[in-house]
Amino acid sequence: MTSALQRIDPAVIPQRILYTGATMPAIGLGTFGSDHVSAPQIAEAVKGAASAGYRHFDCASVYGNEKPIGVALEEIQRGGIRREELWITSKLWNDMHDDVIGSCRQSLADLRLSYLDLYLVHWPFPNFHPPGCDVTSRCANARPYIQENYMRTWREMEKLVDMGWVRHIGTSNMTIPKLKLVLRDARVKPAVNEMEMHPHFQQPELFRFVEENGMRAVGYCPVGSPGRPERDRTPEDTAPTEDPVIIEIARRHGIHPAVVCIKWAVQRGQTPIPFSVNHYFANLAGVVGPPLSSEEMRAIAAIDRNCRLIKGQVFLWKPGQTWEALWDTNGEITPP
Ligand SMILES: NC(=O)c1ccc[n+]([C@@H]2O[C@H](COP(=O)([O-])OP(=O)(O)OC[C@H]3O[C@@H](n4cnc5c(N)ncnc54)[C@H](OP(=O)(O)O)[C@@H]3O)[C@@H](O)[C@H]2O)c1
Repeated sequence: MTSALQRIDPAVIPQRILYTGATMPAIGLGTFGSDHVSAPQIAEAVKGAASAGYRHFDCASVYGNEKPIGVALEEIQRGGIRREELWITSKLWNDMHDDVIGSCRQSLADLRLSYLDLYLVHWPFPNFHPPGCDVTSRCANARPYIQENYMRTWREMEKLVDMGWVRHIGTSNMTIPKLKLVLRDARVKPAVNEMEMHPHFQQPELFRFVEENGMRAVGYCPVGSPGRPERDRTPEDTAPTEDPVIIEIARRHGIHPAVVCIKWAVQRGQTPIPFSVNHYFANLAGVVGPPLSSEEMRAIAAIDRNCRLIKGQVFLWKPGQTWEALWDTNGEITPP
């Protein structure tokens, strides 16, 4: 349990304003246990984080823990935190692109909520991978990105807004060429794009594009996901928390390198969603603590290594492809 001394007043946590005028806390708690932290432990962390001052929780049906998190959210509200003070995100998993309404209904039931603040299309591919699979796993009828199909899913997402089940809808794991098409064709504009971002993978162009087009960028793996599953590891990967620049700044401030990554993210204008069952208080305290200097911010900007950690190989649709095909690295949507 969090003691009174380990509580940050939610009123002092920076907020992001969305195009609807709604405000979203600029740090959230991630809830993906990376196939090794159990659902009850994560539900316990959600409760602890709420007592510590968190109001933003990043959930998803595929994380397999929305039911226990729902019980935790109910307890949190019973403890006096009003629903309107919380920001709850959930996501449509890839095998449910054809049943958006049913999937959202299930997440609402599991999370014990009458509405979500944000519902994301988790990946722009309808390609499924079973929980706990390895990097060679492929969906039998995997598909490339097809704008018409994505928009069919998006129309159902828009209905959820009309129905009052969700306040905002958004995208995740998108690229600039894909987002351009969605912005062109959407009736209800995406409010957020959730994307990997940490000091070794800063995605400056996509980050700028998202923000300049009136969306907010939510950053996943903000500390470089040290506990990520085996399928998401390659020998080339680097760890931002082991970067000498980050370590030196951490030493100067007397904080953990992970906290430096989170402070940098919030100061840069993105919204990190660090997962943590052990360090969530330190992460929140870091965000409201003394800021990084502009020199420190510049030093971190200079250590970008374009090192994507979540490459998504399991979503490839053709034999012989490399993961770059998922990310339109040539500047246009990878042809089918
Ligand atoms: N949209 C998507 O496709 C997508 C993809 C990936 C992730 N996400 C979301 O983003 C969230 C975050 O990503 P992630 O969980 O992969 O990676 P992450 O937040 O970068 O890293 C989490 C790991 O860092 C450790 N950690 C956190 N703060 C720390 C601190 N101050 N000191 C030391 N260690 C610390 C945690 O350990 P402890 O638990 O021991 O504190 C945990 O092992 C996920 O949980 C999920 O909600 C979304």
